[in-house]
Amino acid sequence: MCRIFAAVISSGDVASTLKIGLKRLEYGGYDSSGMATIADNSLIIKKGVGKLDEVDSVVHFDQMKGRIGIAHNRWATHGYPTTINAHPQVDCGSRVAVVHNGIIENYMELKEELIDQGHTFKSRTDTEVIAHLIERSLNAGDDFVTAAIKSSKELQGSFAIAALYNGEPNKIIAIKQESPLLLGIGDGMNFAASDASAFIDKTDLIIPLEDGDLAVIDNLGYKILRIDSGKGVNRDFVKLSMKVEDISKGIYSHYMLKEIMEQPLSLRYTLELQSVYLDVITELMDRSRTVYLVGSGTSYNSCLAGSYIYSKIGAFPTIPALASEFGEQYGRALDVDSSLILVSQSGETADVLKVASLARMRASTVLGITNVVGSTLTRITRAYIIQQAGPEIGVAATKTYTSQLLTHLKLALNIGRKRGKLSQSEMDDYTTAFELLPELTEKILKGVYNSTKELAENLSGTNHIFFMGRGMNTATAYEGRLKLLEISYMIATAYSAGESKHGPIALIDKGVPVIFVVPSDETRKTMISNIMEIKARGGKIVVIGQDDDKELMEISDKFIPLPSMPDIITPIGYILPLQLFAYHMALVKGLDPDKPRNLAKSVTVQ
Ligand code: M6R
Repeated sequence: MCRIFAAVISSGDVASTLKIGLKRLEYGGYDSSGMATIADNSLIIKKGVGKLDEVDSVVHFDQMKGRIGIAHNRWATHGYPTTINAHPQVDCGSRVAVVHNGIIENYMELKEELIDQGHTFKSRTDTEVIAHLIERSLNAGDDFVTAAIKSSKELQGSFAIAALYNGEPNKIIAIKQESPLLLGIGDGMNFAASDASAFIDKTDLIIPLEDGDLAVIDNLGYKILRIDSGKGVNRDFVKLSMKVEDISKGIYSHYMLKEIMEQPLSLRYTLELQSVYLDVITELMDRSRTVYLVGSGTSYNSCLAGSYIYSKIGAFPTIPALASEFGEQYGRALDVDSSLILVSQSGETADVLKVASLARMRASTVLGITNVVGSTLTRITRAYIIQQAGPEIGVAATKTYTSQLLTHLKLALNIGRKRGKLSQSEMDDYTTAFELLPELTEKILKGVYNSTKELAENLSGTNHIFFMGRGMNTATAYEGRLKLLEISYMIATAYSAGESKHGPIALIDKGVPVIFVVPSDETRKTMISNIMEIKARGGKIVVIGQDDDKELMEISDKFIPLPSMPDIITPIGYILPLQLFAYHMALVKGLDPDKPRNLAKSVTVQ
């Protein structure tokens, strides 16, 4: 949902640093890109529509002069993706340049007021009001910092802002309110960015800003002020373990493929989660009357699988819920005896953060699972777990899904142990099953790479693909569907197989492909009946099942064999072929799986 980056260096031109950072932040939006620098006390602005490389090939960002600059990748909210609406946005006199991530909710009132006062607007964005507000204060005689503080006080909504003013050409102002923003503190160079990957090759020392903070940055240092009081405040440093290699594609053609293939390693890291964090969360879950598992998109799918997992392993009931629906669905039911485990890869999803605010207002316990150190989620939860999957750049979540599942598995084992629901041998069996994962996933990924490619080639001409699973693997069907539709734009439907005869089966006709997720667990027998029902109506039967399952092989038109594995880890094993299938389908259709249209990696608006 837009990404911003600002940098100031001691000597040379900052443009190439900004461009490299912007490239790493491209997952956040690629409707347009733009940069502003200051050289010889003048603002230089270049921007255009499309992905960063497309814009760069026209405007040549590298040619921009100046040691200080701000940059932006846009995911359009207010105003079409046009060059005029691309950021940076400027004031009437082109002295102030602003980049922004978020939404200014009261921008229409502010815009009307500013127009009445003689300001001329060029774009349809909400962002442009920020530049004009700063200009109004500067015209009244305020300095840049005072103007930025006064302007921030007028804004309602969510915003991470970076601004330049050519009258004070050595300063960047960065402001955070509900949208992610952190500082990077380097040697003779300093940064502000939506995400540390923008500058990780320059420094690993970050300061996550808090809502209501305004930072003033130059090449020698920074200071942080509170917007409400104007007083200075100290914030803690965090040292990141992220490396440049973690955010490069390496030998792979796409981040998505790299991240799929990395799962043996990311699961190994998640296996090593420190028990102290798991124990704190387990303790707080155990004290609660009701535990909600809340997320969006893929993270919600992990919550859905999680609800089965907590029940199966820990005999512990949980309620999975979509973050965007949570307030309406359960808001008034929350109280001091409720706990919420908020699951968010980025830790910045606006719908999830809104649930956190609601839950805190109602005195519930807010817990978190996230992949991003220093994210907002880590600052607003009572306790949280970092999944340890490593940075995920591809817009489609893959390795973070399986690491969320493994985190749920580990928590479920903990809660089962704590509540005395498991014998020693059951606990040992579960632990052994989890430890199989790195090796098992490696074997699966190698084994299904070609067959999922063939399947994608085979099904690329169809209009509609169904996914069906049962039990825990209903979530696998949902997640397989989400992966396929978001990166290949194919129409896809997922159901719990038991629901198919309550409606969806009406859509089955000769040749309609249905992908069944059928591990050799207690769902297998009923799944076979469901397959036969679809087969009898001419559906094309694709089955992902255990490699020695002759019956499944016989009844399917296409069979994707997986090695035998303990039932409890099948949601991890069985999603892998569906991730690869979606990836191959995007390629067959000539699409870029890393940058699906209309999407952004982290959705920071509601
Ligand atoms: O960062 P989060 O886990 O909170 O993101 C939630 C969803 O936006 C995300 O999972 C989205 O659905 C992905 N594009 C799925 O691949």
